[in-house]
Amino acid sequence: GLGGKKVNVLVVGLDNSGKTTTIERLKPRSKQSVEVAPTVGFNVDEFQRGGLKFTAFDMSGAGRYRVLWEQYYQEAQAVVFVIDSADKLRLVVAKDELDNMLGHPQLGRGVPLLLLANKRDLPTALSPVEIAQALRLEDIRQRPWQIVPSNALTGDGLDRGIEWLAGKLL
Ligand code: GTP
Ligand code: MG
Repeated sequence: GLGGKKVNVLVVGLDNSGKTTTIERLKPRSKQSVEVAPTVGFNVDEFQRGGLKFTAFDMSGAGRYRVLWEQYYQEAQAVVFVIDSADKLRLVVAKDELDNMLGHPQLGRGVPLLLLANKRDLPTALSPVEIAQALRLEDIRQRPWQIVPSNALTGDGLDRGIEWLAGKLL
C-alpha cells in the first residue's frame, strides 16, 4: 500500500553529528526545515524510503539528554548511529555511547544498525574504514550493521544507507 510497512527508527549519536539534518534531508523537499537547531530532548518525524514508512525518533546527542535514548530501545526496529567523521577527539566518546547501547538488554537482538560516517565533505574527515576500526565494528556479531559515508547537507550517501536498512527490514 501507500508508504508500505511502518518502521520505528531510532536516530542517535553525539550532539552536532548531523542527526536532525539527516532526517530533514530524507523528508520531501516541501516539508524540509530551512534551519536546524540543536535538538532539545527529542523529536519525532516521518519519512518514506525503500517501500517503508519510517517513524524517526531523533534524539538529542547532548550529554545531559543521552539518558533518554534507552527509553526508545525497546520500540526500535532499526537504529541509525550518526558520527561526525571530522570529530576525531570525540570518537572515543561516540564509541562509549555505541557500546552502551549495544550492550543494553532492551535493544532487540537482530535490530539492524546503520552507521553514517557523516560530514564526509569536511577536509579532515576520517574514512569509514578508519571510523570502523576506531569503533571496533568488526566485534558486532549479533546484528546486521553497515557503515556508509554521508553528507547530510547535500543528502549524499543517505539513500544508499537507508536502502541498506530497508533491505534488512522487508
Ligand atoms: P543534536 O540535536 O544537538 O544532537 O545535534 P544533531 O546531531 O541533530 O546535529 P544537527 O543536525 O543539528 O547538525 C549540527 C551541525 O552540523 C549543523 O550546523 C549542520 O548544518 C551541520 N552538518 C550536518 N551534517 C553535515 C554534513 O554532512 N557536513 C557538514 N559540513 N556539516 C553538516
Ligand atoms: Mg538534532
